[in-house]
Amino acid sequence: MTLAVVTLAAGKGSRMKSDLPKVLHTLAGKPMLGHVLDSASQLEQATQHVVIGHGAEKVQQTFEGADIQWAMQTEQNGTGHAVAQAMPNVADDATVLVLYGDVPLITTETLTALLAETHHQTDNPGGLALLTVELDDPTGYGRIVRDDAGNIQAIVEHKDASEEQRAICEVNTGILAASAAHLNRWLPALSSNNAQGEYYLTDIVAMAVEEGTAVRAIFASSEEEVQGVNDRVQLAQLERVYQSKVAEDLLRQGVAMADPARVDVRGTLTVGRDVFIDVGCVFEGDVTLEDGVRIGPNCVIKSARLGAGTRVDAFSLVEQATTANDCVVGPYARLRPGAELAEQAKVGNFCEIKKSFVGKGSKVNHLTYVGDAEIGEDVNVGAGTITCNYDGVNKYKTIIGDGAFIGSNSALVAPANIGAGVTVAAGSVITSPVDDHHLAVARGRQRNISGWKRPEKKS
Ligand code: UD1
Ligand code: MG
Repeated sequence: MTLAVVTLAAGKGSRMKSDLPKVLHTLAGKPMLGHVLDSASQLEQATQHVVIGHGAEKVQQTFEGADIQWAMQTEQNGTGHAVAQAMPNVADDATVLVLYGDVPLITTETLTALLAETHHQTDNPGGLALLTVELDDPTGYGRIVRDDAGNIQAIVEHKDASEEQRAICEVNTGILAASAAHLNRWLPALSSNNAQGEYYLTDIVAMAVEEGTAVRAIFASSEEEVQGVNDRVQLAQLERVYQSKVAEDLLRQGVAMADPARVDVRGTLTVGRDVFIDVGCVFEGDVTLEDGVRIGPNCVIKSARLGAGTRVDAFSLVEQATTANDCVVGPYARLRPGAELAEQAKVGNFCEIKKSFVGKGSKVNHLTYVGDAEIGEDVNVGAGTITCNYDGVNKYKTIIGDGAFIGSNSALVAPANIGAGVTVAAGSVITSPVDDHHLAVARGRQRNISGWKRPEKKS
């Protein structure tokens, strides 16, 4: 039995007041549609179908390379019409699950439970299964109309509902599942004779009831997981829902947080024991914090791995970089892509490290740029050191041997080769290789001139 997931994503999203198609607006750094597809792709034997219309090209570009069958809906004539656009690509013997690109927090667990309602009920093979939810204020939603025995009779849209029906608090989330065979019969029979002049997907419920096909419903596990996004207020609310879930999960895994409401994770954060995260931190991509890592306030850590016992102090930015154990980064440090710190290395304030290795126990502590460099062990890179790695056209490497001492405010013009144990005098401009254990002095000599008269103010 194959599963065809049909995700509706053709709507314009006028209320977002944006040029970006609605489903591409991001939640936790990922397009809403991406969240839906990720949850759906965890279902077994699922093929993904997405119905697009507004901004179709942009949506397709964003998911280029993903295994998706696109269906075009040039005019948004209703949810029933939208699903119908995907049906030619759906196998006749498939079960169809309908999802929405603007309902981003739907969980795989709930979908699995919904699908079980179509598959495993002996009285309901391939029958219609609806996901519903009870709302205190059901205004705007399609109401689930049941008979006295509690059997579902129909879904009535708010605009078409009577006063009595409007009092019903159980509403349609829009998410449903049924066999393709049923849908291929029902969808062409839909009419647009209703308050909105649309082909309502919801009208298939009454059709199923009429022909005696079972209709079942299960409740969503929370309001949030079926909450659709129509404007940026709702998107911001769901972002908080998502972030507080992630934070709670991290707390349960043993992470200490100064304030779980002030940490945002836009990707996957993997943590060891006794990790501490201070306020105002953002994690993006795949980040791993090993045992005992401490992240100070207002740090941004993207696609990085920080070794056990590493400390990142306030206001640091770490991106596509790694540290071994017990490193210290920051405050105000920037590790750029390809920065790799060996054990106990230190990178201090206003230092930028790009595509460079900093050896064990080495220190780059103040106001320094290190790019395309290989720094050995126990090296001290003095304040204001610059690796001049770029001649305006090409980039070159700087190699610094173990135990070297680079005096403050030195410029190391790459390609530069500084031997082990070398001392570079402060303020040097190094343009040629320095052999092991030499002192390199490359600066103007100091002259002291006696009897110097300062200029006097002209009268
Ligand atoms: C729909 C349901 C309603 C339910 C509510 C839950 C119908 C007729 N009504 O109403 O019972 O309570 O969702 O939020 O299904 N879309 C397309 N193409 C279209 C029309 C819609 O792709 O032609 C997409 C929209 O972009 C949106 C989703 O389908 O993501 C829902 O459409 P919308 O018009 O917002 O449905 P509602 O009126 O909210
Ligand atoms: Mg609508």
